[in-house]
Amino acid sequence: MQLKSLEQIKNLKNKRVLVRVDYNVDIEKSKVTEPERIDRTFRTINYLVKNHARVILMSHLGKPEGKRDEKYSLKPVATYLDKQAKKPVYFVNDCIGNTVKQKIEDLKAGQILLLENLRFYSGEEKNDAKFAHELASLADIYINDAFAVVHRAHASVSAITKYLPSYAGYNLIDEVDNLSKLLSGFEMPAVAIIGGVKISTKIKVLENFLKKYDKVLIGGALANNFFAAKKYNIGQSVYEPDFVKLSKQLLDKYKDKIVLPLDIVITNKVAKGGKKEIIKVANLNKQKNKKFFIVDIGIKTELYFESIIKSANTLVWNGAMGVFEIPQFSHGSDYLARIMAMQSRGDAFGAVGGGETIVIIKRDHLDTWFDFVSTGGGAMLEFLEGKILPGIKPLIK
Ligand code: 3PG
Repeated sequence: MQLKSLEQIKNLKNKRVLVRVDYNVDIEKSKVTEPERIDRTFRTINYLVKNHARVILMSHLGKPEGKRDEKYSLKPVATYLDKQAKKPVYFVNDCIGNTVKQKIEDLKAGQILLLENLRFYSGEEKNDAKFAHELASLADIYINDAFAVVHRAHASVSAITKYLPSYAGYNLIDEVDNLSKLLSGFEMPAVAIIGGVKISTKIKVLENFLKKYDKVLIGGALANNFFAAKKYNIGQSVYEPDFVKLSKQLLDKYKDKIVLPLDIVITNKVAKGGKKEIIKVANLNKQKNKKFFIVDIGIKTELYFESIIKSANTLVWNGAMGVFEIPQFSHGSDYLARIMAMQSRGDAFGAVGGGETIVIIKRDHLDTWFDFVSTGGGAMLEFLEGKILPGIKPLIK
């Protein structure tokens, strides 16, 4: 998939360039705590600055539901940008209107301005033409460098492209190029590892990998739906009853491809002091006390998954293997992170993505070991379903 790249823009000098970025990052006590998504946009920003454009950055943060809410202000991001960029980064506490227009008017070639949260206006999430038009009136050129939000048909992602010449930034092109390698022309054996909590958000990507790949390893709460489909007692573990039937159909159709845990960690309390016990999945129905929770994969499963991962030439991982936030239930996720990282550093092409997966590999200092780490959560999953996403479609050459 070839996108219109920002390098195709002939003359950037003094042009007002509106760049959609995804600065939906973790902020604690007014400080950015997870800056990866911001850092990845510097390549585009620096290119625009070098070419003497007037750079206007716009993003959403959280879900303020169409109303101004200081809790979701992008001001802390402006402070972070200002520290990291080689020049001052200005901030304006709105994203449309006369004050914003004046700020942009005052901006000199090569200067950078960050607008306030787009989702303070309900028009953003409604993909409203009027709101998109107001945003477009701020600039001469539009660039999308926000892969993590391209699955949303929102005004600053989709409708705006009707009103301005539109291009993809470096980060977006990088994501599309790397994630495309997982969908076609990849080397077999290909293995996907899918974990996390909600099967409803992962079912389509699961089906796509089951069609294309040799093996799909399933862990985390996702596996509970398959255990339930096999009529195992899963105690009080998280699952989605509406998806049990579909899980059964997938098990029947892809019995040679779906790989489920052999053993699991259970506890009576999903909290720091919770007692931990490893049991075989085959013994789930023998559990007398039904008040247990499945919180991790067991050691036999780790070794079993490892043997499959080690045979792969193409690897993709999204979603934790258990309650990774609590140290005694994170062994499976940490173990897999290490194995995946080693295989990716070796011969395989290995990509990972999704909020929790990134937390795990960063915490374990393994992020640089992978061939590609996607900044997308939902966007990565929807891209890997094989869909043409609303933020990408208008940028295809
Ligand atoms: C994300 O963090 O996945 C993106 O920024 C999209 O955010 P959203 O799920 O609030 O639309």
